[in-house]
Amino acid sequence: MNARFDPSGPLRGTTRVPADKSISHRAALIGAMASEPVRIRNYLYAADTRSTLAAVQRLGAIVDDRGDELVVRGCGLRNAIAPTNPIDVGNAGTLMRLLPGWLSFQPGSSFVLDGDASIRRRPIDRIADPLARMGARIDARDGRYPPFTVHGAPLSGIEYELPMASAQVKSCTLLAGLVTDATTVSESVPSRDHTERMLAAAGAPVTREGDPRGGFRTTVGNADELELPLVEVPGDLSSAAFLITAGVLVRDSRLVLERVGVNWTRAGFLRILERMGAIVLSDIEPPGAFGPEEPVADIDVTSAPIEATTVEAEEVPLAIDELPLVALLGCFAEGETVVRGAAELRIKESDRIATVVEGLRGLGADIEALPDGFVVRGTGRLRGGRLDAHGDHRLALLGAVAGLASQTGVEVVGMEAAEVSYPRFARDVAELVA
Ligand code: S3P
Repeated sequence: MNARFDPSGPLRGTTRVPADKSISHRAALIGAMASEPVRIRNYLYAADTRSTLAAVQRLGAIVDDRGDELVVRGCGLRNAIAPTNPIDVGNAGTLMRLLPGWLSFQPGSSFVLDGDASIRRRPIDRIADPLARMGARIDARDGRYPPFTVHGAPLSGIEYELPMASAQVKSCTLLAGLVTDATTVSESVPSRDHTERMLAAAGAPVTREGDPRGGFRTTVGNADELELPLVEVPGDLSSAAFLITAGVLVRDSRLVLERVGVNWTRAGFLRILERMGAIVLSDIEPPGAFGPEEPVADIDVTSAPIEATTVEAEEVPLAIDELPLVALLGCFAEGETVVRGAAELRIKESDRIATVVEGLRGLGADIEALPDGFVVRGTGRLRGGRLDAHGDHRLALLGAVAGLASQTGVEVVGMEAAEVSYPRFARDVAELVA
């Protein structure tokens, strides 16, 4: 489906963005592992997180949709039922990489996971490595790609240093660690910590040492069972980022996004915007904070001229999904905006360095790819044209925001990809512009 986004009048008013995708996946998964029913308020209804609900149901969990909340009745830690057919993760990389953490300790059972064409291009050796060290076995196509089989086994604890900054790999290892005496994951650069927070809320023994500059060591130990009475999912900062960018770039805009998650391990984009001189106000959690809660705040955006900035490797995991928007902002900023140390972008739903550079260049941007990022020379404007989403939800939404801020509008080829995280984006924008 193609969709046109024409140069927009000011965005004004107050709205709520969709629920957090990362936290919704974790709530459904940890709900499925829990012994008592878990109530989830404000679960994200989008393609990715529907895949997670379908997956946990196939493993034996019961999901009741009560309208105002979901109730997940789990299987308990060790009682997942192996379905006869493959579990379909759809387009959801987070589901594909977190679920094996649980499945790896269902002794005597094997589980096959598969997904769409984009998922089949995304590596899983990064989770197979720690799980194999713990005692599980994973057989993957070409040793690396879906479809793959997780053979459950009794696990032993490990100390694992993350070879790449990845919250998915960290989360998978920590979930598997729930049946070991102690499993420690160290990361030299912090990444989102929703899993460790939710495990702490569910009564698992979780500790974290270190600091945001030197990195963290997170340890989990044996949990007999998980109990998590209620999860309230905040708004998704990664979805909010699209409206925030539109608000910054479209002249005379002023909008407030209510109840967005501002966990500091997710809020890198807000700090980047601050450096660019954007007027975006919110109470971000202080760096280093940790606990069972997920902080929320309203985000208040006023359009303003912006300046270029540089994003280096240590900031990348805290803004990883928002970096395409930094490229778009760079087109309008004064000076040269640079993102480095972000090679992980190449293995997202699309190769986001290639697709962002090709997409924005097609709209008139002065942008160049680096092996691990990009350089954008700001011209203060963007012409417009056509942008292919390449089946990637964040590319489709990037094209839409680019259109609103452009001179001639943007036609997004494959807008349906936005169903993965933000199905009602076009409607939200229309309401804010009206
Ligand atoms: C996610 C972690 C990030 C992010 C993805 C969601 C998560 O991936 O890009 O959209 O929910 O843990 P990596 O951990 O692979 O960097």
